[in-house]
Amino acid sequence: MKPDQLSKTAAFIAIKLYGLTRIPAFQSLFDDSVINFYDRVVQNLPFPLNYYHYWLKFNWVRRLYIWSEELFLPGDLLHIIARKYYIRQLINELKDDGYRQIVVLGAGFDDLAFTYSQKGFSCFEIDVPHMAKYKQQFLNKHYPDSNHPDIINAHLTNNQQKLPFGSSSTINRDKKTIIIAEGFFDYLQTDLVENILHQIKQYFSDSPALISTHFALNELPLHHRWSFKTGVKTVGEELKLHYNITQFRKLLTSNGFIIKKQFDHQTIASKLQQKIGTDLPILQGFYLLMSK
Ligand SMILES: C[S@@+](CC[C@H](N)C(=O)[O-])C[C@H]1O[C@@H](n2cnc3c(N)ncnc32)[C@H](O)[C@@H]1O
Repeated sequence: MKPDQLSKTAAFIAIKLYGLTRIPAFQSLFDDSVINFYDRVVQNLPFPLNYYHYWLKFNWVRRLYIWSEELFLPGDLLHIIARKYYIRQLINELKDDGYRQIVVLGAGFDDLAFTYSQKGFSCFEIDVPHMAKYKQQFLNKHYPDSNHPDIINAHLTNNQQKLPFGSSSTINRDKKTIIIAEGFFDYLQTDLVENILHQIKQYFSDSPALISTHFALNELPLHHRWSFKTGVKTVGEELKLHYNITQFRKLLTSNGFIIKKQFDHQTIASKLQQKIGTDLPILQGFYLLMSK
């Protein structure tokens, strides 16, 4: 990921969420403000990505899109809905437990920090300079009168590993904090992920709650693994953390995190399919974890 680049993987997450939530059953999982947020995000993506905003309004285009996506990488579409939905459920549980600060790593076009800024949380987003600037301009233009998250630009690399946790940081080390790493660690090398986990553990007085996704590519059939990696490469990005779930769990625990919750694709799929009556599958090897 280059610092001066628009993240297409982030853009396609927003596009997929927007497309599926044109369908009432999927829409019912989210507040209207969230639906509205992604509507605006997709409408304002640079050309030609913004074309999805128009075309995905049509039922026949959505059907075609879903059919082709399912052929290429089955379960990719529903896993986006699932992660956006379940992360919210986890945050709401943590809210009841007194958590009031959220830091979103590699925020992309995600709405969480903005959404929870309206609900009394102090929120921060971290992303590469180009994405941070783009998001700030988007919020200034479309939500001038709302509370905004603090958007911090940082391109984390093996040579530049520091999170914005210095003495002048506005991230309060004494507040109960939720760290979101949704579709983020996968793009970083193992040493860097390890370093980030270490910094998070060191900075906060109380161990923060870390909500992270993980893609265990080894659980995918070979041709779908290829589709996944190629899809990411085609848009100029690269998956770098090739860990199975046991290795990923070990990475968390060896850096002082205790895994409190883990959802796998079957559990998520059966709950979600029942809730909204879809027969779309969820990407094999997809995990959502909450650790402290
Ligand atoms: C796959 S997108 C996920 C976006 C968002 N978390 C979501 O799930 O909707 C990955 C995000 O991480 C950011 N990112 C990737 N590598 C990064 C790095 N080295 N430093 C900072 N941000 C990075 C990208 O710019 C992008 O916005």
